[in-house]
Amino acid sequence: MPQFLHHDIAIAAAKAGKHIFCEKPLAMNLVEAQEMLDAVKAAGIVHYLNHNYRRVPAVQLAKRLIDEGLIGQIFHWRGAYLQSWIVDPNFPLTWHLRRETAGSGPNGDLNSHSVDLARFLVEEIASVSAMMTNFIAERPLPGAGAATFSTGETTNTDKGKVTVEDAAFLVVKFANGALGSFEATRFAPGRKNFNTFEIYGSKGSVIFDLERLNELLFFSQDDPDYAQGFRNILATESVHDYVSALWPPGHIIGYEHEFHHAVFDFLKAIDTHGTITPNFADGLAETKVLEAARKSAETGQRIDL
Ligand SMILES: NC(=O)c1ccc[n+]([C@@H]2O[C@H](COP(=O)([O-])OP(=O)(O)OC[C@H]3O[C@@H](n4cnc5c(N)ncnc54)[C@H](O)[C@@H]3O)[C@@H](O)[C@H]2O)c1
Repeated sequence: MPQFLHHDIAIAAAKAGKHIFCEKPLAMNLVEAQEMLDAVKAAGIVHYLNHNYRRVPAVQLAKRLIDEGLIGQIFHWRGAYLQSWIVDPNFPLTWHLRRETAGSGPNGDLNSHSVDLARFLVEEIASVSAMMTNFIAERPLPGAGAATFSTGETTNTDKGKVTVEDAAFLVVKFANGALGSFEATRFAPGRKNFNTFEIYGSKGSVIFDLERLNELLFFSQDDPDYAQGFRNILATESVHDYVSALWPPGHIIGYEHEFHHAVFDFLKAIDTHGTITPNFADGLAETKVLEAARKSAETGQRIDL
């Protein structure tokens, strides 16, 4: 459901005592995000924000390597989330491209996922500088008309203004001193849903690429110098998170399993009267970063959080 509906529905659900599984981005802005968090806390229900990429076994493995000290002190995060579905100027002005229904463009849609992963794997973000831009100012209004797209959208001959950004690039400093970058765009032909991150530390590095989601590249400074290089770990053994409940070793999983794992953990949290992350508190923290990025892009200033 478009994000302009998340706030009212979540608050009504919380007031009715319902547990909430909410899609990202949590809200349209910081005020809404705070009200949603207040409502779920007051209701004492289980709340989950669906940043599904945390629940890829290879991403959990990256977390484990970091937590066990194999990456050492983290110096750098390099994240990119690149798509291309609106490169055609005739792609219609759907709800995703209007500020009043989407809140933002790839900053909220794509950077929200990457910021969540960076907060999960590296640290909280302490300051942000950003640049955002638009490539196409007006688009055909949706409706039965001139063109039909692979998304099923059709166009009208009348045009309306695009009111969200088309690309949002961020440079950040983390609370632990690491420097990071985020690239999010819907204007990268050839990139359909290219979501990748690289983390570089004093003892090693990891690289994840959603298009090869069963794998994690790991470089260790501790390997003998004659054998150093990125090793490709297939995260499909029973020792890897979630895998023992799925297939035998080497039997790979897909995008949909991220959602299965999220639903499983959400139901487990309800059953055990526990909690699950990421949740609305993470959503609020991430919204602070994304709003600071918006402010930075508008003012040209670096924003401290
Ligand atoms: N976790 C992920 O990886 C992921 C991936 C895609 C989308 N999303 C999120 O999911 C949400 C929906 O995005 P989408 O691309 O699937 O959108 P979409 O346009 O494909 O689907 C939106 C759905 O909401 C329904 N809807 C619209 N207004 C409604 C209303 N007033 N009442 C009831 N239903 C209504 C529409 O009929 C449609 O079925 C967004 O918040 C988006 O950010 C998350």
